[in-house]
Amino acid sequence: MKLTIEELRKNPLPEHIAIIMDGNGRWAKRQGLPRLAGHRIGVQALKNVVMAFDELNIKYLTVYAFSTENWKRPADEIDGLMELIVEFLDKEIDYLDAHGVCVHPIGDVSVLTGKARDKILAAYERTKENNNIIFNVALNYGGRQEIIRGIKQLCQDVQDNKCTIDEIDEKLFNQYLYTANQPDPDLLIRSSGELRISNFLLWQIAYTEMWVSDVMWPDFSKQDLWRAIYDYQNRERRYGGLGK
Ligand code: IPE
Ligand code: IPE
Ligand code: MG
Repeated sequence: MKLTIEELRKNPLPEHIAIIMDGNGRWAKRQGLPRLAGHRIGVQALKNVVMAFDELNIKYLTVYAFSTENWKRPADEIDGLMELIVEFLDKEIDYLDAHGVCVHPIGDVSVLTGKARDKILAAYERTKENNNIIFNVALNYGGRQEIIRGIKQLCQDVQDNKCTIDEIDEKLFNQYLYTANQPDPDLLIRSSGELRISNFLLWQIAYTEMWVSDVMWPDFSKQDLWRAIYDYQNRERRYGGLGK
């Protein structure tokens, strides 16, 4: 069944969707192309997803673009990925800004190579007041790294008497994450069929609904996104209770 936007609007939409954009390399291999060609088409798929968010008025989008583990890849692939980040921002920043998208990097971007760090920080600087879509781009991001970073900052604040140990609870700790002041993802999508989290948003996805597609990321279309949302709308979230 082909979904329509009217169908999706009948039920509450997720507020926050997180996506593990996986399968670029395998897609390229199947086409007999270099891995970087897969990443390049993958960037196009990402643009389509951002446009779909705009159309549906979904406010929070978090995408996994480069993990703390991805440094294990060959240098030429890493360099190519960094270059693609630069190209994407150069090409799309006007569109993103005009559509009220805040391009918000999450992860330790200080060590990104080439022009990638400066570009992403400049994109954030330019768009930080935008409020239509909060577009979290995970770059050199790891869930464990994020938690350790938060713990260190929190310990520092305790040491500086800005808060006490007794005040520490889940709500307070949330403020020490990259996603402070944002709702947790309602839905986590992973393309390419892998059934793992790969160190993404470990804290935030405690009660997130998961949806995995066998489609490789470069082939991921608006219809795939809509299917994920539709399936999500037909689930019952019980949060450990007994439901309806
Ligand atoms: C995801 O595609 C993109 C990044 C990790 C940067 P992959 O490059 O992991 O593609 P596969 O998993 O090898 O097919
Ligand atoms: C996760 O994909 C990271 C990104 C999509 C950026 P990977 O391809 O790196 O994950 P693993 O290695 O299959 O767990
Ligand atoms: Mg992969």
